[in-house]
Amino acid sequence: MDFGTREHIGQTKGHLTMGGVDTIDIARQHGTPLYITDEGRIRANYRRFAAAFPQADIYYAVKANGNLAVLRILAREGAGADVFSDGELYAALLAGITPERILFNGNAKTDVELSMACETGVRVSVDSLDELRTLSAIASEAGTVVEIAFRVNPDVSPLTHPKIATGLATSKFGVPHAQVPACYAEALSLEGVRPVGIHCHIGSQILELSPFAEMMTKMMDLVATLKTKLKLELEFIDVGSGLGIPYAGPAPTPSDLANVILPIFTTRSQALGIHSRLILEPGRYIVGDATVLLCTVNAVKEAHRTFVGVDAGFNLLLRPTLYDAYHEVIVANKLDEAPTHTYTIAGPICESGDILARDRRLPTIEKGDYIAVLDTGAYGFAMSSQYNGRRRSAEVLVSGGAVTSIRRRESYSDLLAGQVIPPHLL
Ligand code: LLP
Repeated sequence: MDFGTREHIGQTKGHLTMGGVDTIDIARQHGTPLYITDEGRIRANYRRFAAAFPQADIYYAVKANGNLAVLRILAREGAGADVFSDGELYAALLAGITPERILFNGNAKTDVELSMACETGVRVSVDSLDELRTLSAIASEAGTVVEIAFRVNPDVSPLTHPKIATGLATSKFGVPHAQVPACYAEALSLEGVRPVGIHCHIGSQILELSPFAEMMTKMMDLVATLKTKLKLELEFIDVGSGLGIPYAGPAPTPSDLANVILPIFTTRSQALGIHSRLILEPGRYIVGDATVLLCTVNAVKEAHRTFVGVDAGFNLLLRPTLYDAYHEVIVANKLDEAPTHTYTIAGPICESGDILARDRRLPTIEKGDYIAVLDTGAYGFAMSSQYNGRRRSAEVLVSGGAVTSIRRRESYSDLLAGQVIPPHLL
């Protein structure tokens, strides 16, 4: 079987291997559904990305996969973090990512989150003038100065799924680019905030390079305006991420992205005589292909289609249901068998939309077989839920031929954690 660019995945005696370990053995030991992540692959992905941008800082997007072990691996690799909530900030700090390498993003931050930013000393990407004023008041009250950027809405179409396009003029994110100079002017006049950067992020799973070029040009136009109009020289220019991965076909590489945006960044910086650092915030590229979701077949049914009912559904992998996303699926214990049937892989959730994969040619599937859903490291477990009273899965890490637990399977009491029967119902 051809696993494309996924060099950490292979097969032995018809069984799927990850990092050289038989995933069927892992399933027998840890049960399913199970997320299996390859540490070496995360490191290799990170290094490949960092090598394409040798002068830039890489702030891993914690939302893609916030498991502490994953964060620790990336902290050790030297990554900073893009965090989008107080919880992500808490996890990133706990994993050892230092505050000066963390940018706190978010379009509707609470006052508690802004206070936490002040206390921990991270930088904040401010999404609106309203938020700027609130942050200024909170920081002044705390007697501190927070370094900020503005999240810019550059009005660029990323040519991706509308639900993950974030830089369109119609999107909820960021300050419309025409309003950006006025925002910086106000920030310069306020206490408690110091504008040192500029930020944007145009979307995710982007497979075309032209939107990145357009974004970089528009950002450098703004940087130029800030320099000429406000004499402001920014320390950093953070252009987010969005680089797609080859779920179902070719995708650009970090080098392709670098070849498109670095010349614009460098030429324009030189022309302006500025020395801002470039920051990128990859999530999907770093962790996406490093994980498989392994599930067990509970029942095969001939109906309108041939449905294969497995023990993981959109409770554990929402992407196919939410975005019609394509994930490669394979029969992990029958890799040496040829396709015989067309199957639709259905989860156990009580909703018709709970389909992981439609009409796939696969070897004959029986109850007890294992289905592996590939490329589930990004926005997989991270978007999971307990819907339908389903306990969330365990997660294991394969590193150096050894398998370790990085999250235990939830218990029934985890399902009820925090719930209380009020006294009058006792
Ligand atoms: N920076 C910011 C500010 C972001 O909002 C995001 C993702 C990233 C960086 C990382 O982008 P990436 O490198 O992963 O493309 N749940 C969706 C993706 C939502 C992405 C949200 N923002 C999915 O499963 O496709």
